[in-house]
Amino acid sequence: MSKIFRFQLKPRHKHLLRMIRENRFRLGFAMICMLIVGGSTGAVAFLVKPILDDIFFKQNAFMLKIIPLAVIFIYFLRGAAQYGHTYLMNYVGQSIIRQLRNQLYDTITCLSLSFFYQERTGRLMSRVTNDVNIIKGMVSTAVTGALRDCFSIISLIFVIFYRDWLMAIFALIILPLAFYPVVELGRRVRRVSTGCQECMADMSSFLHETFAGNKIVKAFGMEEYEKQRFFRKTRALFRMEMKAVAAKALSSPVMEILGGIGVAFIIWYGGYKVINGTSSPGTFFSFMTAVLMLYEPVKKLSKLNNNIQEGLAAADRVFDILEKESDLVEKPNPVHMKREPHSVRFENVWFRYEDDWVLKNINIEAKAGEILAIVGMSGGGKTSLVNLIPRFYDVSKGGIYIDDIDVRDMSVSSLRNQIAIVTQEPILFNDTIRENIAYGNQNATEEDITRAAKAAYAYDFVQSFAKGFQTTIGELGSRLSGGEKQRICIARALLKDAPILILDEATSSLDSEAEMLVQKALENLMKGRTTFVIAHRLSTIAYANRIIVLVKGEIVEEGHHDELMEFGGEYYKLNQMQLKN
Ligand SMILES: Nc1ncnc2c1ncn2[C@@H]1O[C@H](COP(=O)(O)OP(=O)(O)O)[C@@H](O)[C@H]1O
Ligand SMILES: [Mg+2]
Repeated sequence: MSKIFRFQLKPRHKHLLRMIRENRFRLGFAMICMLIVGGSTGAVAFLVKPILDDIFFKQNAFMLKIIPLAVIFIYFLRGAAQYGHTYLMNYVGQSIIRQLRNQLYDTITCLSLSFFYQERTGRLMSRVTNDVNIIKGMVSTAVTGALRDCFSIISLIFVIFYRDWLMAIFALIILPLAFYPVVELGRRVRRVSTGCQECMADMSSFLHETFAGNKIVKAFGMEEYEKQRFFRKTRALFRMEMKAVAAKALSSPVMEILGGIGVAFIIWYGGYKVINGTSSPGTFFSFMTAVLMLYEPVKKLSKLNNNIQEGLAAADRVFDILEKESDLVEKPNPVHMKREPHSVRFENVWFRYEDDWVLKNINIEAKAGEILAIVGMSGGGKTSLVNLIPRFYDVSKGGIYIDDIDVRDMSVSSLRNQIAIVTQEPILFNDTIRENIAYGNQNATEEDITRAAKAAYAYDFVQSFAKGFQTTIGELGSRLSGGEKQRICIARALLKDAPILILDEATSSLDSEAEMLVQKALENLMKGRTTFVIAHRLSTIAYANRIIVLVKGEIVEEGHHDELMEFGGEYYKLNQMQLKN
């Protein structure tokens, strides 16, 4: 049986059912509304007999007054119940959507960085926007519409049997025959729907990339190429959607043809009985009305299977993410770090993303308050090395110790609370400049923010905007230069005022003049902090306590600027290269 329905209750379905159950009072009330709608459907079919037999044949004057009133009453009640049902069911559906979206966001934002590098942003967005909507379709239209349709069917079947039970048995033999092809089609719908959603996700990630990177598309004259790529995607989506439509659209005609056969039989057999005198026209038409009215809810029920299949496929994609566990695990009783100067030590650290070692046997130590500079050609592993300190990634072998405590034994939040970081790419959010600077430091006062901005040499250009610190990044569009963005990022790190500072080519987008200014600010900032500074221009790190030269993941030289220059190795060569430029 489970093979026919392909439906096994997994933990994820239980999760969904639990969410549905939380709304049981609304659902209960909606159920009452559905009972009324279902009952009124039967009542209308039932009334056909007294209308025909009493009003038209017997010409009963009392019935003439009572039945129209009854009809009005039934439709009023039905209307109210219909409204209540639709409202409540959508309430439940929408609140489940909301919960799922919140849970998705909660899970996704907490997943490790490697997850974000593997998944494309657009696909993730599609999970939160599209797939969740399909689940809502399953919950609020399918599951509950199904109950209403079941009630309608039950009340109509009651009328059918009440009017002529023998004929009813014949008519109902047709129904199960219609069942099998509908289930078969449902299976196909589920398969195709997964394809559709994958196409959608693919398309939204494509849009995300080409809109965000539109400048590059233009610069390389790739509009036509991207257009063609997009057209191919919409064509694939179109084909998938049409396959889904074909599978879905087939269920109705199948039902209809079988229904037609049933109706033909009823006309023949029922008409024969009326001519015979064993039945009244009222009975016949009441029966006939009920059978015809059965068609609508039964048809909807047959679509229900499609909706459920689509919904389950979407639910699988959503729960695949919800059930993902971050690779970043915290020990049961993690150490909480205090905000004070720390030493940082790398001990036999090996690290790789996939197959190749990116860092090989790294041994370095920065004592509390020391400045450690890391230099080397790009791709050497500098960013990877500093990313290990806040546990953006975990080491593959060896360990990193802060004050002799392994970073993996610390609570992640307290660890990251010790670290202020200026990354290679300046990343700002579409909020005001003030909020961007105060990011992660909600208690900052106006003076704090102004001081940080001044120290990062961001104050003057921010003041030149009409709204000053209240300007949103979005309003500025792409007006902020790379250097200006970087200075806001530096202000943000300054404001965090953390004991460990990581500067990953923090001044690379600045011109030499601005760099000199910001450099002074950074030097002030580094005082008393354990600093890892990845330098873009070697002239900016002459003051470092120690300089480490990283080549292809290995430390090849280590020492003070003067020592290394005298040594005449890699560092010397790098210096010579920069001087030439
Ligand atoms: N997220 C990642 N996934 C896989 N490989 C990566 C990732 N980030 C960097 N790498 C690889 O690791 C190596 C070191 O990169 P990186 O640490 O960024 O060097 P640097 O900062 O010195 O330029 C490079 O070969 C790069 O291709
Ligand atoms: Mg780098």
